[in-house]
Amino acid sequence: MSHFEAGELAPAKVNLYLHVTGRRADGYHLLDSLAVFGPAADLVAAAPAAALSLALDGPFAAGLAAEPDNLVLRAARALAEAAGIEARAALALTKRLPIASGIGGGSADAAAALRALDRLWGLDFGAARLARIGAGLGADVPVCVASRPARMGGVGERLSTAPVLPECGLLLVNPGAALATPAVFRARAGACFTPPAVLPDGWEDAAAMARDLAALRNDLEAPAIFLCPMVAEVLAALRELPGCLLARMSGSGATCFGLFATSAAAQQAADLLPNGWWRDAGGLYDPAA
Ligand code: C5P
Repeated sequence: MSHFEAGELAPAKVNLYLHVTGRRADGYHLLDSLAVFGPAADLVAAAPAAALSLALDGPFAAGLAAEPDNLVLRAARALAEAAGIEARAALALTKRLPIASGIGGGSADAAAALRALDRLWGLDFGAARLARIGAGLGADVPVCVASRPARMGGVGERLSTAPVLPECGLLLVNPGAALATPAVFRARAGACFTPPAVLPDGWEDAAAMARDLAALRNDLEAPAIFLCPMVAEVLAALRELPGCLLARMSGSGATCFGLFATSAAAQQAADLLPNGWWRDAGGLYDPAA
């Protein structure tokens, strides 16, 4: 039995593009998206305990409550149920990612909890089984289980291989506005659907990737700007930054990203943004590192 303490990073999920390709009968939207991870991350730690509990800290902890419907606790209960055991663990979540911000923070936390508890409880379920359990918690949880670049299809749960990505830097910016995903989807009611993207096998450098991505879109950007005009200000500020190859909103917003040739270029640009906006810059997250 493995009874060690398990800590897992929950890196931000960034949608380099997001096409809404259709709508299911249950109201969920069909998507085509290329998800990458980093540079900012939450942290989920798990330790043995007689009962299930969740402690919160970090700069965005105040916006969350350790209530039974917290996604981390729901993930713990779903995993225990699949394993046929009692959900016993002391969980701790360090919340560094802004909440309800389009970078999959809650999904990343749930996925990290699944990985941490899989280790703590000695289950060895493997990524595919954890992703299936995660799909019941939210459409973005499966892609966050592996936290590596992936093409998302279906409602987000159908994963396939991403093109080979070049070295690049990302700058994430959030103006301090929370956007509820269902509200953003609702605000695009009546809008047309966009066909899935045609992607190459890979890109040699960030500039080539940015050129191809510029022909694609995030279909949730316009409805998010309608609900939260500050998103347009963030995008305009990103586009002004030296070395910014592409600026786009991630997920259902309000977090936007700038794509740069290197993580150093992204970090230098971060210092030029107006004060008061949350930002984080660096390279893509590598789960093997
Ligand atoms: O799956 P998740 O809980 O993250 O989704 C939150 C809400 O976002 C859903 O209830 C739905 O309204 C909307 N959504 C959608 N299509 C998706 C993903 C989410 O309409 N593919």
